[in-house]
Amino acid sequence: MKIRISNPPETGTAQHLVPVRQNQKKALSQLASMAHLSVDELQHDFKGEAGEVHTLYIDQRRVTLLGLGEHSSPNDLARSFRVLSHKHSGKLAPTLLLDLSYCEQVDEMLVETAVCGLLLGTYRIGKYKSDQPDEAHPLTGEDSSLTIIAPLSDEEVQKAANRGAALAHTQMSIMDLVNAPSNKKPPQALADWAVASGQQYGYQVEAMDKARIRELGLHALLAVNQGSPTPPYFIVMEYRPEGDDVLPRVGLVGKGVTFDAGGVSIKSSTNMHFMKSDMGGAAAVLGTMEMAAKLQLPVHLIGIVPTTDNSIDANAIKPSDVIDSYSGKTIEIIDTDAEGRLILADGIAYMLRHFQPETLIDLATLTGSAVRTFGYHAGALFSNNDQLADQLLQTSQTTGERLWRLPIWDVYKEDLKSDVADVRNYSGRPLAGAIGAAKFLETFINDHPRWAHMDIAGVAFGDTEFSVQKSASAFGVRLLVHFLENLE
Ligand code: BES
Ligand code: ZN
Ligand code: ZN
Repeated sequence: MKIRISNPPETGTAQHLVPVRQNQKKALSQLASMAHLSVDELQHDFKGEAGEVHTLYIDQRRVTLLGLGEHSSPNDLARSFRVLSHKHSGKLAPTLLLDLSYCEQVDEMLVETAVCGLLLGTYRIGKYKSDQPDEAHPLTGEDSSLTIIAPLSDEEVQKAANRGAALAHTQMSIMDLVNAPSNKKPPQALADWAVASGQQYGYQVEAMDKARIRELGLHALLAVNQGSPTPPYFIVMEYRPEGDDVLPRVGLVGKGVTFDAGGVSIKSSTNMHFMKSDMGGAAAVLGTMEMAAKLQLPVHLIGIVPTTDNSIDANAIKPSDVIDSYSGKTIEIIDTDAEGRLILADGIAYMLRHFQPETLIDLATLTGSAVRTFGYHAGALFSNNDQLADQLLQTSQTTGERLWRLPIWDVYKEDLKSDVADVRNYSGRPLAGAIGAAKFLETFINDHPRWAHMDIAGVAFGDTEFSVQKSASAFGVRLLVHFLENLE
């Protein structure tokens, strides 16, 4: 899709899309009078509530009004555009004019949200259906184009729109990965995705296979993989823009469990099928790497994804086993279903030994406890650095990917004491699970002063307009892109 900026406004385009916030009397009366209606008549049909859609005819042109609500959260704004594009694609046309001149409080973020949302609305989840829909979405055609009118400079609009489009494409690719069933995405599929993306957008990717993982001594990753016929991968990605040598260095580590059956501590079958999404943290890291390269962000970014499934056979690790890890610390396994923290421990230790990032962030669909605490609406944020936590929280408020901080007080360290090993992977008591998991990870950060952990178990996979059951959200990609962009 081509994106054009129209300043001064052009009116020739057949199909107009006009976002309006709630209670914008002035805009509504202008629009009403152009459509030869009274404002009361228009308001009877359209109030501007978030997600409301109404069609007007002005000079024989079809004008679709899209309500944005009054004080809508960034979340609701994004959803309004997505739902319009997904559910009402018939109201869009391959040549679309997005007219933001009737909308209050237009800024670059809104332009980005609008373009990103309209494109995300083209997402289709039914990959493996025999009958594919014949009709393409109007915005996906070769020659579809979006023209934008907005009360900002051309440069600002272009930049925000390009970023929105770039984000949407990466997010959809990530959603495909997370939505894929585990038999279609062995760990190697994540490695292949990274290699292809690195080649396309210009960043380095090293996908280490099982032999290399053995050589390196990534024992915790191997232990989780022990009960599986499908080999693990350890993916290391590095992006650094040319020329600049003094750049902030950020390390991202993502949990890449392609299916979490729980291992010997097997999960109950209710909702076990959702565990194909247990690589949502990895997906966020992969997507952020790709975006950083696409946008040429001024940051030295390293991404690490340990990936395996958590299966069960006679070789699988058992509760009470003591395993080694890349860091050198030994770990007593209390519950084999607490596998994410094990592979993250190796990912984090490798990151610190080889790259020494100034900022270390890990993302993982780590605990059911985070889901019980925040439902499907927010991720749990943990950090040993208030400034980093505040930066992430602030960013999350602008992108709509909700985060809420939880404590990592040392009183919770008790839960990790093992009689036989350096640390155990679970307290054995179903209390404060998300905090316990964060404390476990903390033992592997080597006193790094600027670390954050996001438990995104509730938000990586949830209710979306694309599916009847839960599906991928691409949580974390937009958040991290904006975070990296505003790093000093
Ligand atoms: N992948 C799960 C966490 C999860 C739960 C993600 C629900 C998404 C939705 C994780 O590996 C897990 O099984 N955690 C256990 C840990 C426990 C055994 C210490 C949990 O939270 O119940
Ligand atoms: Zn598990
Ligand atoms: Zn898991």
